[in-house]
Formats: sequence, structure tokens, C-alpha cells
Amino acid sequence: MAKARVGLRHAEHIDVHEDDIQDMQDDEAQETLDESMDPLEESGRTVDSSDEEVEDAVQEDMARFEETFVGINKRFRLINRIGEGTFSTVYKAEDLEYNKYSNDWDIDERENRKWSSPAHRRRPSRRPHYVAIKKIYVTSSPIRIFNELELLYDLRDSDSVCPLITAFRHLDQVVAVLPYFQHHDFRDYYRDMKISEMRLYFKSLFTALRSVHAKGIIHRDVKPTNFLYNPAQSRGVLVDFGLAEREGTDSQNCACHMSDEDRRYRINNSVHAQTQSSGHNASSYPKNDTRNSRRANRAGTRGFRAPEVLLKCTQQTCSIDIWSVGVILLTMLSRRFPFFHSADDIDAFLEITTIFGRKKMRETSLLHGQIFETNVPSYSEGGHSLEKIILWCTGRTGDKTQPKKELDDDEKEAVQFLYRLLECNPAKRITADEALRHPFLTKAYEDSEADEDMVDLVEA
Ligand SMILES: Nc1ncnc2c1ncn2[C@@H]1O[C@H](COP(=O)(O)OP(=O)(O)OP(=O)(O)O)[C@@H](O)[C@H]1O
Ligand SMILES: [Mg+2]
Repeated sequence: MAKARVGLRHAEHIDVHEDDIQDMQDDEAQETLDESMDPLEESGRTVDSSDEEVEDAVQEDMARFEETFVGINKRFRLINRIGEGTFSTVYKAEDLEYNKYSNDWDIDERENRKWSSPAHRRRPSRRPHYVAIKKIYVTSSPIRIFNELELLYDLRDSDSVCPLITAFRHLDQVVAVLPYFQHHDFRDYYRDMKISEMRLYFKSLFTALRSVHAKGIIHRDVKPTNFLYNPAQSRGVLVDFGLAEREGTDSQNCACHMSDEDRRYRINNSVHAQTQSSGHNASSYPKNDTRNSRRANRAGTRGFRAPEVLLKCTQQTCSIDIWSVGVILLTMLSRRFPFFHSADDIDAFLEITTIFGRKKMRETSLLHGQIFETNVPSYSEGGHSLEKIILWCTGRTGDKTQPKKELDDDEKEAVQFLYRLLECNPAKRITADEALRHPFLTKAYEDSEADEDMVDLVEA
């Protein structure tokens, strides 16, 4: 078993493999260009960890894993399977060699030791320490595996990002070892979240994104199952950098980065404009279209993709992650999950059109040098306000049986924030750093502080 203890934080690079990872067969190099997953299907597969009950099939799967990955059971005691994704299976395990290594990543242990005596602090830890072992499917491309590990290593000291402890390889199987993070299934709490709880959730998520984006890394797959949140501690960690990339990777000029004047010139001289000026109507196509089809990274999960991803923008930035956070907030406020549920990218774009209207989507398309036309009569020109959509989703628009209701002040503030996240123009969308300074998040701890004041008053 090839080993690299990345927990030794001072190493210069990750030495994960015996062989050069680039030499292995790349059988899915193009895969990252089009990853599409149904949000419902995706969210339904995560199994909550339970130490007591382990299904027979899981037991067999773990036994097989231990058998094929020689030596793993000397270091880890597999406990349960806690996640089964598109690219990996994740197990909860006990770290049997915890005391042999430095464990800077272990925040809980650090907290525990802060309160113990100096003598006790020097003693090895005796309580069990859990890790999450991510067994990356062997069919994943080596480049992709290396990319995930390298980015995780780069982010090792980032707040609210689940750090990489180490990684191992045995033959073609690579496993990443991460601290086990106790969390709740999103579906168990999103319907009942108070606005004050949402503030804490997003504070934690934006703290993670601020560190990730500060390093110029786009996560590309921000969604509830990739942000492990513990409501009791108001703390979460961002996981799954399998689709993440550095901003600018494979970027090519897109009209969205041009000046307004240059963009207008390009649109006025486009093939579309010429087709129109030769007397055809807007939905005509040139007879001999010599344009290359547009290729751009669309990796991510359907329903969480920003409009520019759907429009195949070739110069995507970290702001695509902010849109995905907006979809999470919309999900919580509307109490609907998944909020968007489309069959493909065109469908996904039309779902967004239903909310924002044709005019906005025409402008958004033009921004990326694309033309948006639709003959579906039900899409209104101006779209609907997010307030109205939330009231409608939560049954407050009124009918014969009950009067119309309004959003309360906290909800209104959440909606103001939501507009900044679901901004169709990526250049105008709020950044993670700005979001943390937005009133919706600066008030995050006010409610809990108010509760503490009450306790103080009672004690006095
Ligand atoms: N550090 C961790 N602590 C606890 N659970 C974890 C941890 N890392 C991952 N998991 C669980 O495993 C699931 C899958 O992990 P991850 O998202 O990294 O894998 P994936 O194969 O890329 O997933 P997907 O394709 O579903 O996005 C997570 O949603 C989570 O439930
Ligand atoms: Mg995931």
C-alpha cells in the first residue's frame, strides 16, 4: 500500500502514488465536461451513519474492500457505509493509528484538550477518533483524482472546508481519508429552519466559500449533500472537491468579459444578426452553418447550475458557486426540495426563465453571446418576484378559505439577500466576502446572543 500522510502539514506536495498518476489510463477525460445528475436521485442516496445497525450488504461490501485493499484494516476499523455518490463510496471508520501522527486537523480534539490539564494534554488520546474514507471509483480518471487531492491539500488550512488527512493507493484504488464530520441529512431540517438558523447555516457555508474562492478555486458542485451541516453546533464543512477547478482553467474569451461596446459590436456582426438582416425571421438558421459548437465545462449538479453554466460560458468564475448557494436558500425559504427539477440544461434554463422572465433571460444570454428565443406562451416577459414565489410555495397567496399573507421582516431580509445570490449577471452577483458583510449574515449571531442576555438577566 502506497502511503502519504498528508497530515504532516509541512510536506511540499502530496505523494500519493507509487507510479506517476498521469500514466494511468484516462478513460473519462471528457467526463467533467458534462456531469449531470438528478438532484432528487442524488440526495436520496446518502445513508446516515449508524454504528449500531449495519446492513448485511454493507457488511459484505466493507469486507470486500478490506480484502482487496491490502493493509487497510491495520490502520482503520471500518464501521459503516455513509455515502454512495457518483464518483465514490464513503465509509465511516475508526482511525487506529491516530496517536502515531500529528493531528492538526482535529478541531474537536483541540477543543477538548484546551480545557484539560497540561499533564493530560501530553498523554495520547484514548477516545476513538473517526474518519471518513472516500473510496474513489477506479473508473475515475487519474487526472480527476489527482485534481481533487491536490485542491484539498491546497485548502488544508481553510476554515469550514473538510481537510484531507491523508491518501492511499493500492493498485488502481485510491482512497482519501478525511475527518469524520457528524452532520444531519438536509431533508430532515430544511423544512423547519427558522430564518435565524438559516443565517447561521449560510454564515458557515460562505466562510468556506470565501477561503476556497480566495485561492481562486471554483467548487462547481455546491449543494446540500456537499455541505455537511450540524444544526446543533451551527457548524458545517464543505466537502467533495471532485469537480472543483482553478479559475481560468481551459478558459477562453467569452462576451461576458468584454466591454459593453465590444459586446454590442460582436452581436451586431454575428451570424444571427446577418441571418436576420437577410430577411429571415428570428428563429431561422443559416443554411451552411460553419460555426463550431460551443464547448464549456458544465460539471455540477442539475438544478444548481448558474445560468452562465447552462449557457456554456467559456470564462466561468467562482460566482457560479454563489448561484448554487442561492438555490439552497430558495429551497429553504420555499420549503421545496429539489426546487428545480429538470430533464436537461435547456429545461433547467427554462425553469429559471419561469422565475425571471423572458426579458432577463434574453439579456443574460446576450451577455454570453447567445440568443434566447422561445415560443412557449406561458413565460411572462417580466417574470415573477421571488417574494411572490416564496408566498406561493408556502401557501400564503390566499384563496377562498384563507386570506393572503405577507412575508415577515426577517423573511424580507432573506429575500433581499437571495436577490444578490440569484443575480443572473455573474459580474454583478455578490461575492462570498461581500455576502459575509451583508446584513443577513452579520446578524447571524444576534439571536443567540439575545438568548444569552436573557439567561444573564435571569441569573442576576
Ligand atoms: N468527512 C465526512 N464526514 C462525514 N460524512 C462524509 C464526509 N465526506 C463525505 N461524507 C458523506 O459521503 C457523501 C458523499 O461524499 P462526496 O460528496 O465527497 O462523494 P461523491 O462521490 O463525490 O458524491 P456525489 O457524487 O454524491 O456528490 C456526502 O454527501 C456525505 O454524506
Ligand atoms: Mg458529493
